[in-house]
Amino acid sequence: MTDPLRPDTNIDPDDTPSNPSTAPALGDVIAARFSRRHMIRGTLGTAAIAAMTGNSLLGVLGSPAQAGESNFSFREIEHGVDETHHVAAGYDADILIRWGDPVLPGAPDFDPDNQTPDGQSRQFGSNNDYVGFIPLPHGSQSATRGLLCVNHEFTSSRVMFPRGFNDNMRRFEIEMAAHGGSILEIARGLDGRWSIDGASKYTRRITATTPMRISGPAAGDARMKTSADPSGMNVLGTVNNCAGGITPWGTYLMAEENFNNYFIGSLKGHPEQRNYKRYGLPRGRYAWGTIDRRWDIDKEPNEPNRFGWIVEVDAFDPASMPVKRTALGRFKHEGAEPILNRDGRVVIYSGDDQRFDYLYRFVSRGRVDPENRRANLNLLDTGTLSVAKFEADGGLTWLDLAWGQGPLTPNNGFSSQADVLIETRRAADLLEATPLDRPEDVQPNPATGKVYLNLTNNSKRKAGKTDGINRREKNIWGQIVELSPPDGDQAARSFTWDILVQCGDPKRPETRAIWHPDTSANGWFSCPDNAAVDAEGRLWIATDQGSNWSRASGTADGLWAVATSGPGRGTGRMFFRVPVGAELCGPCFTPDGETLFLAVQHPSTDGAKQYKKFGRRSTFEDPATRWPDFKDGIPPRPSIVVITKKGGGRIGG
Ligand code: FEO
Ligand code: CA
Ligand code: CA
Ligand code: CA
Repeated sequence: MTDPLRPDTNIDPDDTPSNPSTAPALGDVIAARFSRRHMIRGTLGTAAIAAMTGNSLLGVLGSPAQAGESNFSFREIEHGVDETHHVAAGYDADILIRWGDPVLPGAPDFDPDNQTPDGQSRQFGSNNDYVGFIPLPHGSQSATRGLLCVNHEFTSSRVMFPRGFNDNMRRFEIEMAAHGGSILEIARGLDGRWSIDGASKYTRRITATTPMRISGPAAGDARMKTSADPSGMNVLGTVNNCAGGITPWGTYLMAEENFNNYFIGSLKGHPEQRNYKRYGLPRGRYAWGTIDRRWDIDKEPNEPNRFGWIVEVDAFDPASMPVKRTALGRFKHEGAEPILNRDGRVVIYSGDDQRFDYLYRFVSRGRVDPENRRANLNLLDTGTLSVAKFEADGGLTWLDLAWGQGPLTPNNGFSSQADVLIETRRAADLLEATPLDRPEDVQPNPATGKVYLNLTNNSKRKAGKTDGINRREKNIWGQIVELSPPDGDQAARSFTWDILVQCGDPKRPETRAIWHPDTSANGWFSCPDNAAVDAEGRLWIATDQGSNWSRASGTADGLWAVATSGPGRGTGRMFFRVPVGAELCGPCFTPDGETLFLAVQHPSTDGAKQYKKFGRRSTFEDPATRWPDFKDGIPPRPSIVVITKKGGGRIGG
């Protein structure tokens, strides 16, 4: 942290320490997982690709195309960058709620010059990321009323607080209150517009200080105990909630991602040092540890072991205590997307968003009981956590993180399943999982059983360390991988995989991008991050190029529809674009596919100085954009955008 009063608390995982693992690369399999359709590139032919990869692409084809053509029919928008958002013609894009808008009773109106911790804890939080929709009543497929569950990942202090706001105690407490999540009841009126039911009994704010329970195999372990919690069973709050998921029983999963940013200290000579080094702890991007000892690892050495988990929230019971489910492992969880397996078990995928880190899967031991919601509420405490090893022949093997098996024994410092879970990354290193190009959202598609893995980028992959799934050194563009469970069995030990798209501008040979040749001038993108599938099982991808956007694409982030079947498989179509400095999070559809919720995160801050009309770092006083209010004195505000089709109908045509 360079300036403790005005820290740059934007999170860019791409400049954090990376996995030192030396697990073997896949070597010679390079081209094996490309279908013939994917060999065609904008400017280079298959011979050139083969030359770059050192392999013949011919003769080894991927999975056959599925029947049916892509049926996106909207007119796409154009690449570009400016101060506002853009949506395809024929659609409305309305602001539903902004950072600082009142949420709970007694919340003050937004007043950026007079922020208070108590006010913020009742207002909509900062930097909205994941968005989930739970239809009301529970169990229905309602598309006109539901609970909107929104994560607030982090704070962008430079544009959040005015210069001269030097009351650190108050500022840090406001930041803590701006983290976490919001649960809102929303309804669609007869005019087709969505609004928030301010009187709803379900309304809730969760923050970095909300009391939570710890459950599962690591709960109560000695390494989870602190002076404030000698039981190791209770913790205050959640931080850096990136993406998430909604379970089949209507709970809201919040993924704790870059938790290392929140801790200060050194912890020299402490037994946890090896553990913490693997997670990049402490990063010290927030100075909360100067006012609250639990964020200082020299004072509370075990506190970081209580972060990096999946938090489950019962959205239907606002008095319920959120639960950190340790059975799902501890790492920088990008998200936690569940799918109900054909045998009734729930399967949850989660990427560990760090360069050279891994893809994980949790399979519950118990089965979901659709008739008894209460019986499902602790399903996530017992099951099998596995990590992915991508095989040279296009196979994928799930390796179980089970104490006592293979190298996960006392000889390697694991004396219980709690140890395996607290040090999930080190356990996965020992199993020789495949290091990936920053796994972000992992999106199962219930309509097809396929699973989409977004590998967002990896600027540090070196020549000689590429493999079949991570094909490019200095990969600043990312790729989308399609995983196929056998016969739709999400719990199977072995899957197969194929690359759907290798992102980047196909007109620039250095990208080695691979798109379907019919991809339009605006249909390509870089850095896939969040993903969603709509009511028809079609894939939508949101991007986050971070501060690298001018190199990765030269154009703003946004949302693209991506065809996964038919002759157009591997084409993109641009639907939405964010304002300068923002990334796009949370694509989420209602069950009828007629409403799309988007989260525009950190408008104005990420790489704004590369924006030629602006050319300087954003501050509260001088941001690159004042989206969405565009009023003097009002800073940019992360907001939820609601997309509907003019005159009604499904999003995307
Ligand atoms: Fe919070 Fe991996 O993005
Ligand atoms: Ca993300
Ligand atoms: Ca998703
Ligand atoms: Ca990201």
